[in-house]
Amino acid sequence: NMRPLIDSFGRQVSYLRISVTDRCDFRCQYCMAEDMTFLPKRDVLSFEEIEAITEAFIARGLRKIRLTGGEPLVRRDIMSLVERLGQHVKSGALDELTLTTNGSQLARHAYALADAGVRRINVSLDTRDPALFTEITRRGRLQTVLDGIAVAREAGLAIKINMVAMRGVNDAEIEPMMIWAHENGMALTLIEGMPLGEVSVDRVDTYLPLRELRDRLAERFTLEKIAKRTGGPARYVRAKETGGELGFITPMSHNFCESCNRVRLTATGQLYLCLGQEDRVSLRDALREGGVEALDAALDEAMRIKPKGHDFVIDRDQPAPAVNRHMSVTGG
Ligand code: GTP
Ligand code: 5AD
Ligand code: SF4
Repeated sequence: NMRPLIDSFGRQVSYLRISVTDRCDFRCQYCMAEDMTFLPKRDVLSFEEIEAITEAFIARGLRKIRLTGGEPLVRRDIMSLVERLGQHVKSGALDELTLTTNGSQLARHAYALADAGVRRINVSLDTRDPALFTEITRRGRLQTVLDGIAVAREAGLAIKINMVAMRGVNDAEIEPMMIWAHENGMALTLIEGMPLGEVSVDRVDTYLPLRELRDRLAERFTLEKIAKRTGGPARYVRAKETGGELGFITPMSHNFCESCNRVRLTATGQLYLCLGQEDRVSLRDALREGGVEALDAALDEAMRIKPKGHDFVIDRDQPAPAVNRHMSVTGG
């Protein structure tokens, strides 16, 4: 079955984000509640099931996989999955296998990731202030993450730092973060906070439109547009003074849904068709009940129901989140 995955708006899906666990060793304030109830292990897809699902996607034109969580590197034996999925990169069936990580376990896994065929990773890091880091993540230790990043660089992984820009929290640190990232050969991507799940930050107060930030950065740096595309939603510039790359992800202020190329698989095998909507199909049920044929039919169904885009708003009069699941269900 070679039919490409094209949705009802004519968009081709080539990028699958796989959340391998809903668990995380941090509790970032904008991502999770303090006391989370995690999924019972029996509900979680096995590695064999994840592989069957990825193979169904690859047969229909998938080019890129990103592992997320929760924190992907806290899943037991995760490297054996990375090694198996990495074979698709080595054979040319996939262009890229990457992951988005909080960095806490990188020191342990970076070399094995590189060996498995991972070329680059995104590391979430909102601050380089140790006390603020522990406040935002509730239980993370900054130095562990910085050590992990250092080992990942040594292992030859390209690194992009993801920073959720929050007014009054870390906005004063953006320029220093960019200079530090660029000095160390890493790109920095700034992200607008999105209203998913009940969390403990006031998103109206901390929301920072990236347009404003870009103007502020442009006063100090010469920002040159570059054509770089990763298949993700970021738009990139190069700061002439540092020579490094700076990305902007602006779901709130500039909607990029018309070029959406991605879908998200949760740890329990639900395929969410948009980060900002509830629409989904259960690939786990399809696979368990009807095997690979049913799986393929479920992908057709998914393409029929993929929504046009999100309806995120930041508005004091609409304090409820647009969707009621936490970011940790899909890993962003
Ligand atoms: P690259 O491959 O490096 O471009 O990664 P990426 O930006 O696709 O993924 P990453 O996991 O680093 O995500 C960075 C931020 O972008 C997170 O906050 C994600 O939630 C957000 N993001 C990624 N894809 C989408 C999307 O389709 N819609 C929305 N609204 N946000 C997205
Ligand atoms: N809005 C925007 N980005 C978020 N992330 C987690 N929660 C949110 C949110 N509510 C980011 C993380 C990570 C990426 C996958 O998503 O910081 O870098
Ligand atoms: Fe795609 Fe939904 Fe993200 Fe828009 S919000 S880019 S439609 S996943």
